[in-house]
Amino acid sequence: MRVNQIRDFVISYLVNHLTKDDVVIDATIGNGHDTLLLADLCKYVYGFDVQQQALDTTQTLLNNHQVSNFKLIHDSHENMINYVKDFKAVIFNLGYLPNSNKEIKTTKDSTMNTLNTLVGVMKPDTFIIITCYPGHDEGIIESEAVIKFVSHLDNSFTTLKYDVLNKNKSPFVILIEKNH
Ligand SMILES: C[S@@+](CC[C@H](N)C(=O)[O-])C[C@H]1O[C@@H](n2cnc3c(N)ncnc32)[C@H](O)[C@@H]1O
Repeated sequence: MRVNQIRDFVISYLVNHLTKDDVVIDATIGNGHDTLLLADLCKYVYGFDVQQQALDTTQTLLNNHQVSNFKLIHDSHENMINYVKDFKAVIFNLGYLPNSNKEIKTTKDSTMNTLNTLVGVMKPDTFIIITCYPGHDEGIIESEAVIKFVSHLDNSFTTLKYDVLNKNKSPFVILIEKNH
């Protein structure tokens, strides 16, 4: 239920801020639910994952919905800038693939590498939206690093946190907007 409420917030933000003119990046495609939503909202989606299983599942999901405005890339999101230079938004859903190998998950180091790269290349009116999961050990370390990082960005950015205040270790959302 809590995850769904957080996801509802992410979906409503994406619906309100993306258009059919936009090229976007799904940094962690997993089972492809975000990729499918983004393909529906946008002109084109680049999706990344380090697991072939995630690419296969996402390809099947998007084929089943007769969606073709996407490219799936079997690589770490750390390398995304080698494939896509101009984007409106990057979406991260951190952690591990549900019902899969929990050892294959995003990490503080990989996430920080990518965020550091992205804030150096973001154009005005672009954004990053990150769902963080502090419910497991690596997730706590990663979530804290994300908060620390966004808290120190300069004022060419607006950074926000959407969090559940009365439940411990709930997933939360971090938003990084590059100002106009
Ligand atoms: C929580 S799942 C994503 C869920 C997905 N958004 C969905 O809608 O089903 C996190 C995904 O990140 C992937 N991942 C972990 N490290 C990665 C990295 N460095 N680059 C890209 N994907 C990574 C995992 O393989 C996993 O599929």
